[in-house]
Amino acid sequence: MPNSYTKPLIAGNWKMNGLNASVSEFRLMLSEANKLFNKVDLLICPPVTLLQSFAQLTKDTDFSVGGQDCHINNSGAHTGDISAEMLADIGAKYCIVGHSERRADHHETNSIVHAKASAVWKSGTVAIICVGETDEEYIKRETLKVVENQLLESVPLGATSFNTVIAYEPVWAIGTGKTPTTDDVKNVHAVIRKHMTERFGEEGTIIRILYGGSVKPSNAQEILGVANVDGALVGGASLKAFDFIAIAKAAS
Ligand code: 13P
Repeated sequence: MPNSYTKPLIAGNWKMNGLNASVSEFRLMLSEANKLFNKVDLLICPPVTLLQSFAQLTKDTDFSVGGQDCHINNSGAHTGDISAEMLADIGAKYCIVGHSERRADHHETNSIVHAKASAVWKSGTVAIICVGETDEEYIKRETLKVVENQLLESVPLGATSFNTVIAYEPVWAIGTGKTPTTDDVKNVHAVIRKHMTERFGEEGTIIRILYGGSVKPSNAQEILGVANVDGALVGGASLKAFDFIAIAKAAS
């Protein structure tokens, strides 16, 4: 359940999914989203190939679009990379950094994630900084230690509720259909809240903390009802307009 200062944020991460044909699914999502904006903030992070067309479609709405990753620099000789400034230039309002798939597939360390979050801030958009333990770390009961260290090393000084969202995504829960117990979610989010408050004072008490990992319409209400869960970062279920809207309704 989000604190009283902020609306929950339901964010969809489309990952490497979606072709031009998916624009119609997004249009459907937009038309269904209209009545929800007074209760919930909505965001889709499509692949970069669709970002500009989604940004055009959402131009005069409260629906936000964002990037899934960015380079640490604004520009330069980095073939294939995209900067936060470029994402902002075409209408992104947010950018995910440090997703576990980036950390695993591209060997992104906490210090790289830290630099990416700073680059997002410089572009004037909001960094969604992801943390979360692997299956092995979960089994060894290292979750809290791992998450605290990721926060310490990945979240730059200067985080505020305007420039930062934290997403807790246990790696073992992503795309598996498995979710932690609500008690586990509550404990991890409480530790994240404590960390953010100790480091960032008043702002740390209202920075949104999302849960991600196998969120779907059937479990959204229960997860979103947990203390310090200020929204969700949704993968698979965000590809379907009706599933994503059902999750948004559970938050509203
Ligand atoms: P799923 O919702 O498909 O488990 O993915 C979660 C995720 O990784 C969102 O960033």
